[in-house]
Order: sequence, then C-alpha cells, then structure tokens
Amino acid sequence: MLTDNHGRKINYLRLAVTDRCNLRCFYCMPEEGIEWLSRKELMTYEEMLRICSLLVKMGVDKIRITGGEPFVRKDIMQFLTSLSVLNGLRQLTITTNGVLTAPYVPELKKLGVQSVNLSMDTLDRNKFFTITKRDELPNVLETLEQLLKHEIEVKINAVVMDGKNIDDIIPLVELTKNLPVSVRFIEEMPFNGEGNHYSHLHWHYMRILRKIQERFPAIEKLPDPLFSTSYNYHIPGHKGDVGIIAAYSRTFCGTCNRIRITPQGILKTCLYDDGVLNIKDLVREGKDDEEIADNLLYAIHHRAKDGREAELLRKEKMPVHESMATIGG
Ligand code: GTP
Ligand code: 5AD
Ligand code: SF4
Repeated sequence: MLTDNHGRKINYLRLAVTDRCNLRCFYCMPEEGIEWLSRKELMTYEEMLRICSLLVKMGVDKIRITGGEPFVRKDIMQFLTSLSVLNGLRQLTITTNGVLTAPYVPELKKLGVQSVNLSMDTLDRNKFFTITKRDELPNVLETLEQLLKHEIEVKINAVVMDGKNIDDIIPLVELTKNLPVSVRFIEEMPFNGEGNHYSHLHWHYMRILRKIQERFPAIEKLPDPLFSTSYNYHIPGHKGDVGIIAAYSRTFCGTCNRIRITPQGILKTCLYDDGVLNIKDLVREGKDDEEIADNLLYAIHHRAKDGREAELLRKEKMPVHESMATIGG
C-alpha cells in the first residue's frame, strides 16, 4: 500500500493525456492565443503505460484519464485498451466533455470502464455556446444517452459560475428525477489559463446547497464514500443523486488519495502545487524502474498536508496562468 507523509492512502492516479481540447470553456482556457504542447513535450503512450504500470505495482488501483479532452488525442482507445489489462488496476475511469465520446461508448463498456464523468454546465444550447464557444451540446447529450444505454455510471460535472449558469442549477438537479445520474456542482477554481481570477469565490458550496434546498426542501444528505470529492445528497423520489464539490474551499484534503500526472509528464501531488517531479525527464534520461519508483516515493513522502499548504509552497504564487487543461483537472 502506498501512503503519504500524512498517513493518507494514495491509490488514485489522474493522468492527463493531452492539453488540447475541442471546447473553450472560459473557466479553463482563453478562446484564442493558446500555445499547445508539441508532440515532443507530451508523454508518449508507451511512456505513460510504463509509469502507470509502475504506479499500479506500487499501490495505485484507480486511474482516471483526463485532459484537456482525452478523446482528441489520436489512438486513445488503443491506449485505454492497454491500460485496461494492467494487473492490479481495479478501476479505469474517464473525465470527458462528451463532444466526441458517444461512438466510443460500446467499446468503453467492453474494456470494463464502469464510470465516466461528463462535463456539462448547462442544458441550454445557447448558454452552452456562450460558456464553451462551441455549439456542441447535442453531441454531449448523445454521449449521455449512450452511457446510460450501456449502463455505465455517469457523474455530470457542472462548474458553478457567477452570472453565467446560476439559473441552470435547478434544471440540472431536475435531471436526477428520471435519470440515474449523479449531478455534481463544482466550485470554480482559479485555473483559467489567464491568471485573472476573481478576488473571492461567489458560489461557495454552502451557497450552492442553499439554492438547491430552497427549491427541494426535502433533499437529504447521503453518507459520503471515504475518498469522495463531493458532498452527496438525494431528493426523495428521484432516480439520481446530487453532489457538491468544494474544489476551491478544499474541504476534502484530509482524505486526499490522489496524485496527478500532467500531459508534459510532471507529477503533482496536489492540484494546487506547481509540479513536484519531472517524470518524463527521468524516463528520457534512461532511468530504470527502481530509480523512477524511488523518485515517486520521495515525492509522495513529501506531500503538502493540504491544498492551502501546497499553494503557499508554490514557486509561482497564485494567481497563476495555469489552465485546468494542462493540470488535468
Ligand atoms: P470520482 O473519481 O468520480 O470521485 O471523480 P473526481 O471528483 O475525483 O474527478 P472529476 O474529474 O470528475 O473532477 C471533478 C471536479 O473535482 C473537478 O473540478 C476537479 O478538478 C475537482 N477535483 C478532483 N480532484 C480534486 C482534488 O484532489 N482537489 C481539488 N481541490 N479538486 C479536485
Ligand atoms: N474550476 C473548477 N472545475 C473546473 N474544471 C475545469 N476547469 C475548472 C475550474 N476552473 C472541471 C471540468 C471537468 C473537471 C475535470 O474539471 O468541468 O469536469
Ligand atoms: Fe488533494 Fe490538494 Fe485537492 Fe486537497 S487540494 S484534495 S490535497 S489535490
């Protein structure tokens, strides 16, 4: 078992396979002027597979593929296929924006992908365009339909943005009436690629909850799974659940079981740190598995205790120009 210096079990790797995305959600990246990573800067699938296999041997049993948007990277299904057969990997999951995903759903099911997190901040086509700068809502809804049809567990992620999608909170909650999905509202985080974040968070998780409670006073708290990022709720009579992720308030650091690898092959032991180990360099310098494992262990044994401490320890102080697409969400 892999444990950090604060006694937290580390069993969850979030692997970002690309920084590229086919949407331009304003809370994640600017509409223009983005400099994508070159092919050489990205980890190759071979390199990623080697690191994943090593981490699985060390104790990781859940891998979430993120981006950017995972399905814009060429041959992603081949990569997922090789990951899916890693001995010791219990869960392979994906976070996707759903634009290109629908046709792959039957194959994902065959690979044993049990759960997919789908980003969808609104159910209104015009608002979707305003938020993402692309008219892709119908494709995202098609992905949702395919996932449900193939009985893959779905969590819908909606970032709560002041002045942008507050009126969408209730319609998104209403989705849970007839659909067995978990709709999770996320506090907006300061990683929009522009470094011009708000000075304080308008939609704190308690405020989101109050808004939902006003419309659904009977909403009940559910017990939260041990490593859950979300506070979970259920409205009596609904098929699905509602969650709220205090991603900015960072209330769940005490049980944080995850590490991240960015598309450039940088290890982050906290979402809010600025990278603690260059894995890609180690691989390309020809280091053997033992030496790479030692470096990974060192980083895991020197983790910040929480997101606040990680933020304080950064070389580049907040606010930063980092984008969620280069962090991996
Ligand atoms: P599950 O594995 O289904 O629990 O999903 P998840 O919440 O780990 O992953 P997902 O990719 O759906 O992320 C949902 C939101 O939670 C995103 O905005 C993430 O950036 C945020 N999030 C995920 N992990 C962390 C974390 O370790 N710290 C913080 N602060 N936010 C996180
Ligand atoms: N704040 C909060 N969540 C964000 N995501 C992307 N950018 C941000 C941000 N600035 C979410 C996406 C996706 C998940 C991986 O991260 O909506 O669902
Ligand atoms: Fe883990 Fe950092 Fe997120 Fe806290 S803020 S839950 S320590 S990644």
